[in-house]
Amino acid sequence: MATSTSFIPASDLLVADAPPRSVMPRDCTFTESDWRALAPFWYPVAFSREVTHQPYASRLLDERVVVYRLSDGTVAAARDICYHRGVPLSLGHVEGDEIICKYHGLRYDKEGRCVCIPAHPGGAISPRLHLDMYQAQERYGLVWVRLVDNGPLPLPEMKEWDEPGYLQVLPDSVLINASAGRQMEGFLDVSHFAFVHKDSFGEPDNPVVPDYKVTKTPQGFVADYISSVSNYSHGFKHLNPPGFQWHRRFEVFRPFVAKLTVEFPGGGLLHIMNAASPVSARKTRLFVPICRNFDLDAPIEATLDFNYQVFAEDIAIVEQQFPEDLPIDLQAEAHFPADRSSITYRKGLAEIGLGRTYTA
Ligand code: FES
Ligand SMILES: [Fe+2]
Repeated sequence: MATSTSFIPASDLLVADAPPRSVMPRDCTFTESDWRALAPFWYPVAFSREVTHQPYASRLLDERVVVYRLSDGTVAAARDICYHRGVPLSLGHVEGDEIICKYHGLRYDKEGRCVCIPAHPGGAISPRLHLDMYQAQERYGLVWVRLVDNGPLPLPEMKEWDEPGYLQVLPDSVLINASAGRQMEGFLDVSHFAFVHKDSFGEPDNPVVPDYKVTKTPQGFVADYISSVSNYSHGFKHLNPPGFQWHRRFEVFRPFVAKLTVEFPGGGLLHIMNAASPVSARKTRLFVPICRNFDLDAPIEATLDFNYQVFAEDIAIVEQQFPEDLPIDLQAEAHFPADRSSITYRKGLAEIGLGRTYTA
């Protein structure tokens, strides 16, 4: 039989060394230096309940990410691309600890190594067929991923979530057409209650912001805000004891997570985590795990509805702000004393390496 002149020896089909791949996502909406500054942090990319043996497609910092559940119940995450012919792995399925590509059935183990090419059982496997795996873990009912491992980094802390005597509430996530930085700063803002939240809990005749204290921490800062603005919704303002001073503690975990603790009359504690996941520079998926140690038997629908209302009021503002990017340069916008938190926040983002032309 005549040998084709285009015959390629099998050995030439294998590439010995995988060339370094660019870590930057294609069509990235961040500047490269900002993306590199943001990539090592933890962000939620899915609810735990969304991640099963059926791969789940997500986006984080413009990167396509696939998350799936291994046989021992833990979660795995990888760049959502099979390097054979560029098909998203999220189209495939999981068997045991292996994720299997839908196009040609290549199987990848939990370290990302290709362990089987069904077209050539027992044949050599190119080292290029190796997935980019990401660190992943679950907490607060969410799956958290970091795209770059530059050393140990704890997750944002809300230890009460796992403590006995606490009720956990997990509202649906919200997709916001705004930058994570703007959204976060809105969560920390204490002078908008009387205006933006006048239909939920804000008190239009009580707009004054008393001076408050901000303390730096290794992961961000803590702001202790004490005022007479009650956290009750308008239907329940009569529960507010006259003269009661409400303590709201904001704990910031850079870049885009904050935990708010509200002390209620009688000592009840409400904890709200604002976890803003940057899908892209101008799109944010907001997760808000909540827990409280009072009203344990009350139906959670009222809590969910109140939360949706408050966040809808905030979103109506944050989606209109411009520039859409949170200005890191303190000269770019004007400030007043109530903005102590946001000034500290902007400075803190600069410290982790975000630029003056920060795009998230
Ligand atoms: S593209 Fe994934 S196996 Fe071919
Ligand atoms: Fe708000």
